[in-house]
Amino acid sequence: MQSALVSSPVVGRPSFAVAQLPRASRASRTSLVTRAAAIAAEDVPDAAKRTTMNLLLLGAAALPVGYMAFGFIALVVPPKVAGAGGAQSAKDAAGNDVRASQWLQTHKPKDHSLVQGLRGDATYLVVTDAGEIEKYGINAVCTHLGCVVPWNSNENKFKCPCHGSQYNNEGKVVRGPAPLSLALAHANVDNDFVFLDKWTETDFRTGQQPWWS
Ligand code: FES
Repeated sequence: MQSALVSSPVVGRPSFAVAQLPRASRASRTSLVTRAAAIAAEDVPDAAKRTTMNLLLLGAAALPVGYMAFGFIALVVPPKVAGAGGAQSAKDAAGNDVRASQWLQTHKPKDHSLVQGLRGDATYLVVTDAGEIEKYGINAVCTHLGCVVPWNSNENKFKCPCHGSQYNNEGKVVRGPAPLSLALAHANVDNDFVFLDKWTETDFRTGQQPWWS
């Protein structure tokens, strides 16, 4: 009788040679193959199940992917400044956003202290007698030749060290050679952040249109 095992093309691994099996063995093997195929077909989910599984898989993947995408976007897109049209958050000397609550803990009524304002200009935030951030900031750049004008709290005025110009506590020029008052900016507190915005309305100190806009 012929052996059912023959040498495999892979050395050392014998395999069945169906053609060499007796008829009864071939029939039995064919039946086994057919049955295995039927079982495998039963294991394949129908189209509706596959669609449901795909949706579940997609949902499970969307959550972490969306979370990572949001984190990436938050990193590369700078936070939007509040206020309409070009308002900018005031920055302290370290470049951090000014928080009104913290600022008012250390800056008392009548205080005039510098922050980084619009376009990076040195700008005074003013604290009112009621202990709030004043509705306007005062640009610190002298209108004569551009020196930064220091606040003199003892005399309650700004005095330019370069050529002696003076401005009152609202930044209105009271002594030359500076020809014009210090520029203004709107100052608004939003969600505890202080925002500076362009002042385009009438200058309340002079009753004239603002020279800086
Ligand atoms: S720059 Fe201020 S007075 Fe000349």
